[in-house]
Amino acid sequence: MNSPGTTGNPGQMPLDPDRMPPCIRSATENDLPALASLDAEAFPEEPYPFFVLRQYFDVCRGHFLVLDDGHILYGYLIATPPADGRSWVLSLGVIPDVRGHGLGRRLMVESLRQLRSEGAHEVRLTVDPDNDRAVSLYGHLGFTQEEDVHKDYLGLGKHRILMTLKLPDTAPPAPGTPPSAPSATVNSGRTGGP
Ligand SMILES: CC(C)(COP(=O)(O)OP(=O)(O)OC[C@H]1O[C@@H](n2cnc3c(N)ncnc32)[C@H](O)[C@@H]1OP(=O)(O)O)[C@@H](O)C(=O)NCCC(=O)NCCS
Repeated sequence: MNSPGTTGNPGQMPLDPDRMPPCIRSATENDLPALASLDAEAFPEEPYPFFVLRQYFDVCRGHFLVLDDGHILYGYLIATPPADGRSWVLSLGVIPDVRGHGLGRRLMVESLRQLRSEGAHEVRLTVDPDNDRAVSLYGHLGFTQEEDVHKDYLGLGKHRILMTLKLPDTAPPAPGTPPSAPSATVNSGRTGGP
């Protein structure tokens, strides 16, 4: 879908090897029109109204991440800044054409790395129990799910599972210790995880 703004989603198969590889960065105000299009592609049944995206952008700022190659927005993630060590991942979406290429995972890993570096020790999210791909992704990243489904959590018939990831403290390295990879405690392998 074409959209105004600095980037658009022209409806062709992206991840073209001739393009720059997609990179993760913080969203900017100029991304918002294209983000609205992306969100409508990712969540066609219930896209966010523009004003909701706008307000998430204002409140979450550096935690509103996009993945793009300078031309096309492929995906986005919104997380809340840590408060009392806890954050929520509010939304994660990747355009349909490029799902299954690891982009959703990359957005999650980067967000978790960032949240941990800012002192988060717990990250929560909710997911539709029938959303197998998302539940699998979060499980592989180490999120655990409550046994009970929260009936009507997001309104009538919109049940959700609550999933939680505990992040270890970011202890300052001992003198002389080489720095470790910031995402080392997030399971970024495709088949691992609890
Ligand atoms: C959920 C979503 C963000 C995942 O993004 P993605 O780029 O397709 O995901 P990835 O390629 O990184 O793969 C993530 C997981 O999906 C699963 N997966 C990948 N390809 C799959 C396929 N063809 N069929 C089923 N599951 C698949 C894998 O379990 C993978 O986890 P792993 O890497 O730990 O094995 C994306 O599918 C999407 O936007 N869906 C619509 C919006 C949505 O449901 N958002 C989540 C709301 S909670």
